[in-house]
Amino acid sequence: MDSISSMIAEISHRKEFIDMAFKALSFNEIAGDYAEFGCASGQTFRCAYSAAMSFGHKAHFWAFDSFEGLPPRAGARDGHPKWEPGKMRQPLPGFLALLKEHGMAEESFSVVKGFYDTTLHEPFDGPRPDDICFAYVDCDLYSSTAVVLDFLRPRLKHGMIIALDDYYCYSTDQLSGERAAFLEFAANVSGFHFLPYRPFGWHGMSFIVESASLIPHTSRRISHA
Ligand SMILES: C[S@@+](CC[C@H](N)C(=O)[O-])C[C@H]1O[C@@H](n2cnc3c(N)ncnc32)[C@H](O)[C@@H]1O
Repeated sequence: MDSISSMIAEISHRKEFIDMAFKALSFNEIAGDYAEFGCASGQTFRCAYSAAMSFGHKAHFWAFDSFEGLPPRAGARDGHPKWEPGKMRQPLPGFLALLKEHGMAEESFSVVKGFYDTTLHEPFDGPRPDDICFAYVDCDLYSSTAVVLDFLRPRLKHGMIIALDDYYCYSTDQLSGERAAFLEFAANVSGFHFLPYRPFGWHGMSFIVESASLIPHTSRRISHA
């Protein structure tokens, strides 16, 4: 498979997953917003909008990105040959133009520009979602993902979907990236269980958040039950 066909396949796997996720959320009447952490080219963001529209889901769409590309590595667990500071930079005006071209009404989305250690932390006082039904994490680095998951911690709710686009991207000599951040997070969350939902493409994995109190006889945070 050449690199263009492989890119097309990746886009279609992502799209198929997002369609199914919105179908499930709509069918189960799990309301709330869609929040994407790492939205660069707007590809996934636009897929999510189309999927929600086609299944009649009333999500508001939140885009969180530096719009300056990846930040510098913060440690060994950010290590990956493909992830260089500044990579995947998409300036905000280009992103907004793509959303407009896709027919997204201005009131249907909110953009929070900046690096997560500022925008997802106090004392940032800009707009942020309180009720999220679908979090799509696509910010590659361990350090970025750890901040995003910390932001999601008080916003976890039963039936919510968390997707990690780079779950299976990690370094040759250790656990790193989104998987390392998610495993650490899941091990330290109380009150919720993460049901493995759907892998997508060769790279992504998703989980459904379940209230632990509703699941008898389980003490594990991640299981295939
Ligand atoms: C793989 S791209 C996202 C691709 C996107 N989902 C799409 O469909 O085009 C990764 C994005 O994460 C953003 N990112 C990574 N770490 C970040 C951080 N700490 N703060 C803000 N943005 C970050 C980068 O700016 C980049 O746009």
